[in-house]
Amino acid sequence: MIKIAITKGRIEKQVCQMLAAKGFDMDPIIHKDRELLIETSDGLSMIFAKANDVLTFLEHGIVDVGFVGKDTLEDSDFHDYYEMLDLEIGRCYFAVAAYPEYKDKEFHRRKRIASKYTNVAKKYFNDKHEDVEIIKLEGSVELGPVVGLSDAIVDIVETGSTLKANGLVVIEKISDISTKMIVNKVSLKFKKDEIFALIDALKGEEEDA
Ligand code: PRP
Repeated sequence: MIKIAITKGRIEKQVCQMLAAKGFDMDPIIHKDRELLIETSDGLSMIFAKANDVLTFLEHGIVDVGFVGKDTLEDSDFHDYYEMLDLEIGRCYFAVAAYPEYKDKEFHRRKRIASKYTNVAKKYFNDKHEDVEIIKLEGSVELGPVVGLSDAIVDIVETGSTLKANGLVVIEKISDISTKMIVNKVSLKFKKDEIFALIDALKGEEEDA
């Protein structure tokens, strides 16, 4: 049996669709109600969790496989896993965004940067040797500049419509994001065949698409 943690919501739906298209029995998942752990007739034991918790379950060996966005992986301090597959879904990117004036503005104080992804933001400005103040927001990060809390944000951009609707622009793209399949290092040793069978199935789906 392979134990899998999937990020609840969009990633859960897309991964389950991919597996169903490859003939896996996803009916118990599709028809689930509020259950958080489901075993399928193909020997998959799946739990549904928040993105950061998918990493926690994998780190503690509770699951063999995790499906999670690259955004979560990049912001985490835990890196002791194998990134086995890019599912090429959930594509978006990290960017610095602000009002257009930000580009030419001279700051005579530390810039204030709002982000849900504080590690990504820290790393970006450290790499630029810029000493900034990072302010953590849990969501609707665009509010930072809108309400005057921050000069800019580091956030995910997908269609760009949230930025546009709030008068903000991309100042610089940081990195691409998509959904990844990650694997616990010990599990790969002991469940190699099952894990590679799952990878092959998902890869095949990509080629079919
Ligand atoms: C994400 C992200 C942006 C928005 C970008 O937020 O933080 O706010 O989506 O998408 P767009 O470029 O297509 O407009 P999400 O909707 O996940 O909610 P949150 O703001 O509460 O984090």
